Amino acid sequence: MKEKILIIDFGGQYNQLIARRVREHNVYCELMPYTVSIEKIREFDPIGIILTGGPHSVYEKDAPSIDKSIFTLNVPILGICYGCQFIAQSLGGVVSSAKESSLGEYGRTETVFDISCPLFKDIPQKSITWMSHGDYISKLPDGFTSVAKTASCPMAAITDGRLLYGVQFHTEVDNTEYGSKILYNFLYNICHAKGGWKMDSFCQNAIADLRAKIGDGRVLLALSGGVDSSVLASLLSRAIGNKLTCVYVDHGCMRMNESAKIKEIFSAMDLNLVVVDAEDRFLSKLKNIRDPQEKRKIIGREFGYVFLDEAEKFGITKKDFFAQGTIYPDVIESGEGGAGVIKLHHNRVLPSEVLMSFKDILEPLSCLFKDEIRKLGKELGLPESIVYRQPFPGPGLAIRILGEVTKEKLDTLRLADSIFTSEIEKSGLTDICSQYFAVLTDSKSVGVMGDGRTYEHALVLRSVKTNDFMTASWSRIPYDVLDRVSVRIVNEIPKINRITYDITSKPPATVEWE
Ligand code: XMP
Repeated sequence: MKEKILIIDFGGQYNQLIARRVREHNVYCELMPYTVSIEKIREFDPIGIILTGGPHSVYEKDAPSIDKSIFTLNVPILGICYGCQFIAQSLGGVVSSAKESSLGEYGRTETVFDISCPLFKDIPQKSITWMSHGDYISKLPDGFTSVAKTASCPMAAITDGRLLYGVQFHTEVDNTEYGSKILYNFLYNICHAKGGWKMDSFCQNAIADLRAKIGDGRVLLALSGGVDSSVLASLLSRAIGNKLTCVYVDHGCMRMNESAKIKEIFSAMDLNLVVVDAEDRFLSKLKNIRDPQEKRKIIGREFGYVFLDEAEKFGITKKDFFAQGTIYPDVIESGEGGAGVIKLHHNRVLPSEVLMSFKDILEPLSCLFKDEIRKLGKELGLPESIVYRQPFPGPGLAIRILGEVTKEKLDTLRLADSIFTSEIEKSGLTDICSQYFAVLTDSKSVGVMGDGRTYEHALVLRSVKTNDFMTASWSRIPYDVLDRVSVRIVNEIPKINRITYDITSKPPATVEWE
């Protein structure tokens, strides 16, 4: 892959969005933390670099910074917000706090552009941008000019007229009217991208790469039945046919009838599928465990050992490969490459003896976002029932039971979850409900049933609307649907006597509770 943009992450909340926007313009990009070395940047060999926003002030002691020799690479650079201020300060300009003045800006802001600048080609002279800054550039570096202004900010965009560009506003959010066009201009007019990053070319290249890498080896694929590993099953099956063995492990924390559904879906796909019932094995390991990260670690590790046992059974050895459907957000959210750890995704914790039992681990989807995986799934001809299946976390209901996981709680949650999901599906609400499920809390509360006092678990219903699962808003489910679900659950499940609906978006909450 030749044409790449490097996005250097200064910790801003929209940074993954920048990456997705770049890819939507058919240019491949990767996000790396600001601690990346200049050697690694050179080795990556980008056609352009984007410096993102971030929560700090460039003039703070220990403010995030990168090696200034980045400016001598002869590669175009676009700084956004903090990134723009970083360029200005690094090259001799001055960035000041807007606290004492009225020069900070938040929200939709009318902006006037110098449309002779290649960054602003083919956009109107005046439009709305999204600002969110408490600092401003008070003095430009030598050789720079201002190419956009607002009523309170005379340097809303800057350039050296050659390779360096900075914008104070956020091009990546929809509220910036011409944000997408400005990013396009950076990619195509300034970095001279050709735009070959498309799912069909990814698909063909990935199949060819996998064939070359696997040679006459075999592959054991960890198949969860979710969209990521299903897409990978299809990709690998195209690449190596029946040298692929898919192993689906039922760890006992699956949704109602999940294993039967998986068998049904995949038996139609002509794959070697092995279904392993490992409920006892996992539940005994989860006994007395309450901490969510610990649950993930235990489940991730135990998955690894089950796969090893299955590999041995099927004669898959050290000359063969292990594959899993890791996607880009799993890598980022698990904190690899310097980002803060939010959740340790279960597929990032395989024990080293598992890793060492195979020739290599294949994770060919680990550079793709969820919506790209879905595009790839369609490209591979997978049915919509798989491509648009709502995601289900690898650790399953274990991270939807707060506190200790027991068989009894699992059975309770499975039933409640199936009532909720079937009512959502019956009501035709799947457009506003991208992922919907129930969570069993560890709290009990007092209720009254008939004439008697009850003291049972509180259940949470959670549903979010999202495209990429990186940000999400809670679904506006009509009250009568919520009411139907609530009445059914408390009537049909004696262990639950109270239902709440989660109305937090992500951020600040996450989709899952643990
Ligand atoms: P959060 O809770 O981080 O979830 O907002 C974002 C998406 O990722 C799924 N998720 C997981 N998937 N292993 C997975 O395979 C995990 O450990 C895991 N944790 C969260 C979650 O269901 C949502 O779709």
